[in-house]
Amino acid sequence: MSAPPKTVLTATPEEAAAIRQAARISADRVVAGPEHVEGLLALFSDPRVSDPIYDLPRPFTPESVAKWVADSEALRQEGRCILSVNLDEAGQVAGYSRITVWPERSSAELAGAARADRQNSGHGREGVARSIAWMFEVLGVRLIGLTAALDNVRSAKAIDGAGFKRMGEVESVRPDGTTRRSIYWELSRDAWMRRHVL
Ligand SMILES: CC(C)(COP(=O)(O)OP(=O)(O)OC[C@H]1O[C@@H](n2cnc3c(N)ncnc32)[C@H](O)[C@@H]1OP(=O)(O)O)[C@@H](O)C(=O)NCCC(=O)NCCS
Repeated sequence: MSAPPKTVLTATPEEAAAIRQAARISADRVVAGPEHVEGLLALFSDPRVSDPIYDLPRPFTPESVAKWVADSEALRQEGRCILSVNLDEAGQVAGYSRITVWPERSSAELAGAARADRQNSGHGREGVARSIAWMFEVLGVRLIGLTAALDNVRSAKAIDGAGFKRMGEVESVRPDGTTRRSIYWELSRDAWMRRHVL
């Protein structure tokens, strides 16, 4: 289960409402729907994609993935989640990202993966940076918390490279209740703007 950031922000009612609305609109993202279940199942069936990610709907079956897509869509309608897919030139699912949103805390978390043939691209840092820019500029949150498995070198480099600050470790809880030790990072919108916009 996704956990909110360690740092606790309080959004005004107006700010929280604007974040919920932006999540419902999901501008510029291909929101995952029933038509992507088969592609997502194929994506997650590759352990090179799914092994490092703790909050996926295991075991992967057409039913478990379809339920996860439908549950994520219901949460998006509440402004609490955006599950989106990246499609390749052939229209196949080549990656996914899932943003968990806590509108009342002006905070969000991101998880995602690229298909194996698109990993080790040398563009991991750019991919993280693009998602982060969307979360601060379009979704409108003021804080992002991220986690990665202790041995996930590529993620850690991409996250460090995007300007996130390491803030110790956390226990990430899988849907089945088991835990995984994770590195934990945060980045505030103010710090991101100082780095990227000003
Ligand atoms: C995480 C992921 C999106 C990164 O994308 P990528 O295209 O594979 O990443 P890159 O090739 O750009 O590598 C990222 C960084 O790790 C470095 N790196 C790659 N392999 C490395 C290794 N074996 N040892 C040390 N550094 C390594 C790269 O040089 C790069 O560093 P840089 O940003 O300083 O140049 C992708 O690997 C993926 O989908 N992995 C599976 C799922 C996953 O782990 N999701 C994230 C969960 S938090």
